[in-house]
Amino acid sequence: MRKQILFYLLTVICSIQAYGQQEFRPGSLWPDQDGKHINAHGGGILYHGDTYYWFGEFKTEGKAGNKALVGVSCYSSKDLYSWKNEGIALRVENDSTSEITKGCVIERPKVIYNRKTKKFVLWFHLELKGQGYDAARTAVAVSDHPTGPYRYIQSYRPNSKTWPINFDKAWQTKAVKESDLKAHTDPWRKEVAEGLFVRRDFEKGQMSRDMTLFVDDDGKAYHIHAAEENLTLHISELSDDYLSFTGKWATLAPAGHNEAPALVKRNGKYFLITSGCTGWEPNAARSFVSNSIWGPWISLGNPARGNNAERTFESQSTFILPVHGRKDQYIFMADRWVPENAIDGRYIWLPLTFEGDKPVIKWFDQWSLKQLATP
Ligand code: DGJ
Repeated sequence: MRKQILFYLLTVICSIQAYGQQEFRPGSLWPDQDGKHINAHGGGILYHGDTYYWFGEFKTEGKAGNKALVGVSCYSSKDLYSWKNEGIALRVENDSTSEITKGCVIERPKVIYNRKTKKFVLWFHLELKGQGYDAARTAVAVSDHPTGPYRYIQSYRPNSKTWPINFDKAWQTKAVKESDLKAHTDPWRKEVAEGLFVRRDFEKGQMSRDMTLFVDDDGKAYHIHAAEENLTLHISELSDDYLSFTGKWATLAPAGHNEAPALVKRNGKYFLITSGCTGWEPNAARSFVSNSIWGPWISLGNPARGNNAERTFESQSTFILPVHGRKDQYIFMADRWVPENAIDGRYIWLPLTFEGDKPVIKWFDQWSLKQLATP
């Protein structure tokens, strides 16, 4: 009898470990409440009401699973450790004429809440089916509920026929020849920083690949995206309803070759973490600080420390999450991609701390919010 009770207790304890584990284990399989590895890659988190909503790319098995065959997933959690599958927030469409037809590429979905319209607004990087990464568009969808379903609205090449606010007048009129676009030398990088690709894409609209969203304290929202063949990041102000662009925008780290942007505001300063551009392969993260969202942005180098910092612990940034109700606590969220079996991608969540005004990310095999500084 004693043995049976002991066995029963052990089973209960083990199942609590599996479903209600109160710690993060970066790089491990992370089961949701149904016991399935969370499927929300390149994701971002919205805190709304008393709940966290995690949106991400729903990947499927194999190499083909890097394409959008299902859509954008959503999970919810009260404590950040245990996640409930809320289903597909935005579904790809079967209609072959739709921009989000099955087989397109949907990456890095992010959701923000608009207090004025009371709508949830989802933006994501969209590549049109069959065009590789050439379309370089950003797309928007909207819902009355955080978990969706989201109604697809449209995609953009942003900021057509507008110059960035940090652009010299003299740079506007220079000619662009096809041969100018390919040199990859230092003088060429200077040309890029002086708007070579901005001029090339002036009529059509600027490219938009890896992206994130950021809502400031005054409710203004910004879309930060890799543009100019991934050479330069652009930061663009969104309209009051968050559904389009106002036309106010700036270049960020010109010719710096950054992608995977993640932004957070701390003590009035803006911090940006990015990666270099090496496809699915990890590289060293970068960080930047600015007193204004419009820059100037100052480079602070690689925020990762310790063993394997030069490959960001085999991962690439996707979002920085301020932990609700815990002052000065942030989670660096990153993806450990597995491109040959996309569904097996893992999540690297680590504490983002600050040494003075410098962001720092250190590896932990396992960790919990309790370990961080007291609220
Ligand atoms: C790196 C990007 O950050 C990912 O989102 C994805 O676009 C891959 N490149 C594709 O190679």
